[in-house]
This record gives sequence, structure tokens and C-alpha cells, in this order.
Amino acid sequence: MAKSRFTAIVLAAGKGTRMKSPLPKVLHPVAGLPMIHRVINAVQDAGADEVRVVLGYGKDLISQVVEPLGVTCHIQTEQKGTADAVRSAHIEDLLTSGTVMIVNGDHPLIMAEDLASFIDEFNRESAELAVVTTKLKEPGSYGRIVRHNGNLRAIVEVKDASADTLKIKEINTGIYLVRVRALQKYLPQIESRNAQREFYLTDLVSLAVEAGEKVVGIPGKSHVARGVNDQLELSKVNSVLFRRKARRLMEEGVIILDPKNTYIEDSVQVNSGTVIYPGCFLRGKTKVGSFCVIEPHSFLSDTTLENSVQVRAGCYLEGAVVETKAFVGPYARLRPGTKVGAEAHVGNFVEMKNVNFGKGAKASHLTYLGDADVGEQTNIGCGTITCNYAPDKKKYRTVIGKNVFVGSDTQFIAPITIGDNSYIGSGSTITKDVPAGSLAVTRAKQVIKENYTPKSETPSRPVQNGTDKTEKE
Ligand code: UD1
Ligand code: MG
Repeated sequence: MAKSRFTAIVLAAGKGTRMKSPLPKVLHPVAGLPMIHRVINAVQDAGADEVRVVLGYGKDLISQVVEPLGVTCHIQTEQKGTADAVRSAHIEDLLTSGTVMIVNGDHPLIMAEDLASFIDEFNRESAELAVVTTKLKEPGSYGRIVRHNGNLRAIVEVKDASADTLKIKEINTGIYLVRVRALQKYLPQIESRNAQREFYLTDLVSLAVEAGEKVVGIPGKSHVARGVNDQLELSKVNSVLFRRKARRLMEEGVIILDPKNTYIEDSVQVNSGTVIYPGCFLRGKTKVGSFCVIEPHSFLSDTTLENSVQVRAGCYLEGAVVETKAFVGPYARLRPGTKVGAEAHVGNFVEMKNVNFGKGAKASHLTYLGDADVGEQTNIGCGTITCNYAPDKKKYRTVIGKNVFVGSDTQFIAPITIGDNSYIGSGSTITKDVPAGSLAVTRAKQVIKENYTPKSETPSRPVQNGTDKTEKE
């Protein structure tokens, strides 16, 4: 039998008032990805042939984020409840032979493998409608699952529930699987006769049961029910996802000393044997090789570390590449376009932007290198500055050759080229190119005056003991 068409409908028209945020709720990032992006990834990875997203509040912003993911957006003009939201997804267009999965856009912990297992179960049961349920010690505001002789009978919303119904621990996770035929038949029958005067999607259950259709509850893990409604819940799902990633990396042999305090986004790759200390944040397209050490409170974004790189405490690395066996930090900043060569040393309070820093080169302390090439084995002394920004508001390049010795407190006024094997005397301001193998020094000559008494030691006015107020104070 041909596989029936599988459409996912993601509900995301709600305002998310309790977030108290100017950003639409589903765009809040969870471990680096907007929560709706995660839900869409999960339904697509579970095999959805088509994804329809229902939008209302914040539709213009949200559609910009979700449309590039290959979904279609459908607008619910007024929020009249979850059934009305599904209606807004133009279900009349769907092939009657197909299947629909409905999920909430604010449940970012849902994983593709959860959804795939629900689909399998739904097909095994040959049910018309399935609701994914879970049992919670504190069922709170979730709809309660009412059973009769073990069979699913109805879902009752808290605002409509009796005291006895409220005691039920089995709840509606908000994930449904339904045959298109049944959805098209029963959805129009849903009315809004309830405490909230809303069209409840949950009423599909009682309508289908009463009509004698096969309706089942599929047990799911509690994380699939975890919706985000306020900032506290957002922070909790963030930590769940960061811990999930840390656990996966640890299973692959990455050494994470304190997973609760390590923040690694899903997109980041880390190879085994690398040690990550607490407080580190690794994001975006960051790739870390094997046997690296990333010391506490370092931030790496879109950065590549080859094998055996050491990033010491408190570094900020963005769009940089650090080659094998190099050292960076403590307290170093590598900005986009920077490549630190193999075995190079970048020490404390060194900033580099758009720099090609050669193999084995060193800049150990307090230095700014911007728009520069630094050759192999060159030593950049403490306090060196490339003056790359000119009064014409343009940036110019500094090119320093191999094996150059740059004395401390040197400024290079770019554009400028320093030849291989040359020496720059400490305290120089270099404005002209330096040929290979030469010494350049611009420092003023030291003057010594022996037995010298500074003029300032000669009192300019007589001071009488005990009468000078300034001295007393
Ligand atoms: C809903 C379920 C409840 C379940 C819970 C799981 C109903 C009536 N209740 O309750 O049984 O336990 O989810 O989290 O369905 N939405 C729209 N348009 C609307 C209303 C809602 O798109 O008019 C969207 C929201 O953006 C949200 C989702 O539907 O993504 C769920 O809506 P919400 O108001 O959060 O429903 P709950 O009260 O949580
Ligand atoms: Mg909700």
C-alpha cells in the first residue's frame, strides 16, 4: 500500500501574553534556535510531507523565520480557539486519504524520534484519531484525559472540569494524529459552548468517540507536553536542551566538567577527548577538534578549533579559526576573519580582527592586531598596536614577515610592510616600510643629566608650618 500523505499543522497564532515580551512567543530562542524552528525541524524530520503553520499575532515576523524552512503560513484572523486555528489551515484542501499531525508551536522539547514513534503507534492501532497523553504529578492547567473502562472518552479543559476530573493525572500533551477524513468530518461540528467560549480542538475526541470511531491515547514522555508560556518556563526548556546536548557529547567522549553550567548549541560539533570547563558558551557553526581544552567562561561563536588547541579562561572568539596546538588567552578576543596558525601563542588581553597570524608566532600580552598578516615565528611584543583605521575612515593592512622581532610598545601605521627577519625597536612608531633583515627604531635618544635636581623641588612660595590648610587636610 502506498504511504498516505502526511501533513503537519503547527499552531502558533496565540499571543503569548504571559511572556511579557515584545517578541512573539514562538520566536524566542531555545538553545540558539527559535522555538517554532525546533518544532518545525521535529515534524519535518519525523517525515512530514507538508507543514502548515497557523499564525496570528506577530505573523509578519514569524513568517519571515518559518517560510525559508519550506512551510506554508496560514492566518487565523481572530483567536477563537485551537479548533478554529486548525480550520484556518485550510484542511478542506487535504487529500482524504492522508493523515494529519497537529502540534503546538510552543513545545520546543518535542523530538523527531518522539513523533516518529507516535506515528508508528497510530498506524499500528489503525485508529482514526489519537491523542498523545502523559501522566504528570502536577497536571496543572493541562486538559484532563477522561477514560471509560480504560477507553478514551473525552478531554476536559481545566476551566470546565469538576473537582473529580481535576484530580486526573493523565493529561493532553496537545499532539494529535488524525485521518484527514475524520478531521474534515468532525472539525466543523465543534462548537464553542464552554467556559472560554472557544472552539476547542480537544472536542474532536468526544465527537469521534460518540460516532463510534476508533480513538486512542498514545503514551508519550512528559517532555513532549512541556509548553513555554512564561520566561521561567523558557529558562527551564533552555537548560533541558543544553543538558541534552551536553549529554550527547559526553556519550561521544567529550569531557564536560559541569554539564549544568555548559551551554553548547545543537549545531556545534565537538570531538572526543576535548575538555570543556564550566561556564563556556559554544554557539552557531563552532567546530572543536579532539584534545582541546576550553577553560571556564569562554565564548565561542562560529569558530573552528583544530585538534589540541588550548583556549584559556575568559576568551571571546567569533568567526575565528585556531590551528592545531595553538594557545589562546586567558582573556583574549579573536574577531571575525582571524586565523591563528598552528602552535602560535595569543596571550592575555590580545585582540585580533581579520588577522592571519602565522605558525608559531607569538603575541603574548596586551596587543591589538587588526587587518594584519603576521609571518611564521614572528614575536609581537607587549603593547603592539596596528593602527589600521585612518582619518579617511578606511581600514589599511599591516603585513609583517617571518621571524620578525617586534619590540614592546610599537605602533604600525598601516598600510605598511615589514620584511622577514627584521627587528623593530621598542617604543617605535613605524610609518615607513622596513626592508627584510633590518632594524627600525623611531625612539627618541635617551638623555642623562647627572646629579640632577628637578626644578619643581624648589618651593615656589614659602610654606609656614601649621598654617597651610591644604597640607593639613
Ligand atoms: C491546549 C489544550 C489542552 C492541552 C494543552 C497542551 C485546547 C482547548 N486545550 O491548552 O488540552 O493540555 O494545549 O499544551 O486545545 N492557538 C492558536 N489559535 C487559537 C488558540 C491557540 O493558534 O485561537 C495555538 C497557540 O498559539 C498554542 C496552541 O494553539 O501554540 C495551544 O493553545 P493554548 O492557548 O496554549 O492552549 P492551552 O490552554 O495550553
Ligand atoms: Mg498552552
